[in-house]
Amino acid sequence: MILQQIIERLYELPVDKIDREDALQAIKQLKFSLNRGEVRAAENFGGAWKTNTWVKKGILLAFRIGVLSEFSENEVFQFFDKDTMGIRQLSINHGVRIVPGGSVVRDGAYIAEGVVMMPPSYINIGAYVDEGTMIDSHALIGSCAQVGKHVHCSAATQIGGVLEPIGSIPVIIEDDVFIGGNCGIYEGAIIKRRAVIAAGVTITGSTPVYDLIHQKIYKKSASNPLIIPEGAVVVSGGRQINNSFGQEHRLSLYTPLIIKYRDEKTDASTVLEESLR
Ligand SMILES: CC(C)(COP(=O)(O)OP(=O)(O)OC[C@H]1O[C@@H](n2cnc3c(N)ncnc32)[C@H](O)[C@@H]1OP(=O)(O)O)[C@@H](O)C(=O)NCCC(=O)NCCS
Repeated sequence: MILQQIIERLYELPVDKIDREDALQAIKQLKFSLNRGEVRAAENFGGAWKTNTWVKKGILLAFRIGVLSEFSENEVFQFFDKDTMGIRQLSINHGVRIVPGGSVVRDGAYIAEGVVMMPPSYINIGAYVDEGTMIDSHALIGSCAQVGKHVHCSAATQIGGVLEPIGSIPVIIEDDVFIGGNCGIYEGAIIKRRAVIAAGVTITGSTPVYDLIHQKIYKKSASNPLIIPEGAVVVSGGRQINNSFGQEHRLSLYTPLIIKYRDEKTDASTVLEESLR
């Protein structure tokens, strides 16, 4: 039986009916393939992203059957996690720069050559981080998030993890995206190539995003996640609340706005010192 079928069968069973040895073997194989980028939580087919539900099921299975165990380095640095999790073992040959100071890649995450992780940062299980991407201090790449090539995740960027609902798309950050400091991208939002998310912008799956250039509103629908278009420059904005109470108190709602599409000026504002990489 292939790995996908084994995981799907085990996932459907109540925990007390799962053969622990079979499950541990399947989880080990899944993490091995995730570490190598051979399987992914979501993949792009001809421009459209699709969730590999069975991969998420495998990760959830790992949480479900995991038993709390000790990962302590010594009596000072003590860690406890499920025995099915653990830390990704990397060597210098992976070509990844993990600057000393409290960063962790969880086992079952793919990190391509040329990725830089500034401390502290965290990459969770099921995440995929492609070549040359920079993950700055206090940044999180949540479970199953898919981050493309040469992305810049500035300090304190939070890329949320999406494990459940099982069919939902994880957060996708395509190639050459720039995410400014203190941003949050959550709940399966898709940020297309070369988009720029200005410092402090928060986008959840259900945040409407107003495009001042094309005079459009981007929202998720029953069949599609929220998609930020290629090259969009998204900044924090607000919009009036129109009911009488909102008007009386002059209230407004936080709303991300697409103020422009990337141009030379944006490139200059987001240029990164290659020698820092
Ligand atoms: C988005 C950003 C890159 C600017 O892009 P840009 O293409 O150079 O933007 P421009 O200067 O051409 O500004 C275009 C318009 O957007 C407005 N604007 C630009 N950045 C804005 C922001 N962050 N919030 C609100 N409005 C903004 C400008 O005032 C201008 O409006 P105007 O035409 O009415 O004058 C910049 O604001 C930003 O967020 N940089 C990231 C900084 C950061 O987090 N660094 C990480 C270090 S760890």
